[in-house]
Amino acid sequence: MTLPSQHDRLVLRRPDDWHVHLRDGDVLSAVASYTARQFRRAIVMPNLVPPILTVAAAEAYRERIKQAVDPALRFDPLMVCYLTDEADPGEIARGFARKVFAACKLYPAHATTNAEHGVTDIYKVFPVLERMQRIGMPLLVHGEVTDPTIDIFDREAVFIERVFSKINVAFPGLKTVFEHITTADAVSFVIGGGPNLAATITPHHLRMNRNAMFEGGVRPHHYCLPVPKRESHRLALRRAATSGSPKFFLGTDSAPHSVMQKESACGCAGIFNAPFAIESYAMTFEEEGALHRLEGFASEYGPAFYGLAPNSDQIVLERRPVDVPAKLMEASEEFVPFHASETLPWRFAGLAEQRGLRTRREAGLALPGREAETNGQAG
Ligand code: DOR
Ligand code: ZN
Repeated sequence: MTLPSQHDRLVLRRPDDWHVHLRDGDVLSAVASYTARQFRRAIVMPNLVPPILTVAAAEAYRERIKQAVDPALRFDPLMVCYLTDEADPGEIARGFARKVFAACKLYPAHATTNAEHGVTDIYKVFPVLERMQRIGMPLLVHGEVTDPTIDIFDREAVFIERVFSKINVAFPGLKTVFEHITTADAVSFVIGGGPNLAATITPHHLRMNRNAMFEGGVRPHHYCLPVPKRESHRLALRRAATSGSPKFFLGTDSAPHSVMQKESACGCAGIFNAPFAIESYAMTFEEEGALHRLEGFASEYGPAFYGLAPNSDQIVLERRPVDVPAKLMEASEEFVPFHASETLPWRFAGLAEQRGLRTRREAGLALPGREAETNGQAG
């Protein structure tokens, strides 16, 4: 076996996934390890059936997730409360104080998978948002209007105008994450907002524009919500993610649905990207000449926003082509992973400690360009 040269290996502070769907039951048991082997922490979305509405439900779900993952990975699921019109500020504050709830998720009613119990009018949850602002609890926003007269490709931009701007004006001190952004409008809105406003960006929205859903026919495995937009929006997302701005960080929105659920007369929205998530981001950052900024995006800006310490362990990526399977068999069902049948240039090679690489310095490794940039900033 030949060992790759220094420049063909990246040792990164272990990343976190600030937006993932791990599901429940057999699917949870089957998919959770794809996330846990790469990411130390994950913000786990609460859109189960029924949704996670109470501290007790979140504690029980957290336990089921932990049972599904090898403890040696030291995976730490961070739980989220699903907001409804009836959300109780007292229960939410209690969950946050007890470190069960890390955040609340705002789904506009019917905006996406299992969002039928979501919020019908933002004013209905103003008392909850007021309490969250007071206690420093982050709000995670699915930013799309559901008005059927609004074109699906405009729903994010219209949400900014009709809803997000109201939240920002009423609660300037509320920590808010604009989840899985898909437009140049959202990039500008986040850049223009104060330090309490940030955004997550998925691997798939960095790689696909809206043509991907219709390439030679309907492509159900490229369908997700918010839907990918025009090429100009994809390019704006790539610039934002690789800019080094701490307002943009990693959130995969990995959302597994079986082949049966996807390839249907009414197929589900969601892309199962967890199996090759960090590889996908690494490829995109390299294409943008920004590999030295991957660590900030993947491992530093998220914890800083949430007020948490960055992870002290590290992962290894090697420049060795990896073939993504066409399908994965999980829980007796087939799932199509993002990048199915493609070959990716970077391969996730495990945690550094599993490979006997204690620290980047000990291993004599650095991210190309990273030191120069850090020195420049410090100076
Ligand atoms: O594509 C998506 N799938 N977007 C979402 O907002 C939800 C997710 C899911 O849970 O399937
Ligand atoms: Zn999601």
